[in-house]
Amino acid sequence: MDDPNQPEFWNSRYEKGETPWDFGGAPAALKAFLKAKPKGGRVLIPGCGAGHEIGLFAAAGYDVTAIDFAPAAVARARQAAGPALADRVLQGDFFQHEFAPASFDLIYERTFLCALVPGRRTAYRDRVAQLLKHGAALVGFFYYQNTVTGPPFGFAWSESDELFGRHFLLTKDIPVKDSVGVFAGRERWQEQRRTAFGAS
Ligand SMILES: C[S@@+](CC[C@H](N)C(=O)[O-])C[C@H]1O[C@@H](n2cnc3c(N)ncnc32)[C@H](O)[C@@H]1O
Repeated sequence: MDDPNQPEFWNSRYEKGETPWDFGGAPAALKAFLKAKPKGGRVLIPGCGAGHEIGLFAAAGYDVTAIDFAPAAVARARQAAGPALADRVLQGDFFQHEFAPASFDLIYERTFLCALVPGRRTAYRDRVAQLLKHGAALVGFFYYQNTVTGPPFGFAWSESDELFGRHFLLTKDIPVKDSVGVFAGRERWQEQRRTAFGAS
């Protein structure tokens, strides 16, 4: 199975323990963000994988929803979340799932966008924009390595500006110091605020 658009591509990697993207916890930039802005609201974690960040968001006062389409990832995330939060982890397709309510104050990105084939980036941007309230934010880790093969599929600078500029304003952009090996030196923490412009 070589198609990252299919759950089995990812499921088999979780089952074999071949998860080089997995941080094993919460990266420092996320901890700093939650310390600075523990304001709560509804957060969505798409392609949550093992779901290490779920508990941290909840502890910071957020109402967490996480989703992944690989059953083995969902099982791990439910275990990581613990009994009180396990039902906040949904098994489904981020692009198709009918979230209820379908508006979030925050969407947290880590290694989900770069897991998608580049042809799906516009759909990702539009889906994120659709699910965020105006003035809400997409925050997280973005991978800058312009490669033809993947996953992970990284960005060139011009590509991310062009992609997000339609619906978002970049309000923070800093290098990440504690990346796992596969992303080292090529990962940035960014905060993209949903604008009223280009509303879909
Ligand atoms: C590289 S992993 C990243 C997992 C996690 N975010 C992390 O930081 O460890 C990509 C994840 O996205 C999930 N995924 C890919 N396409 C998806 C989709 N359309 N809907 C839901 N999950 C998806 C995969 O199952 C996989 O768990």
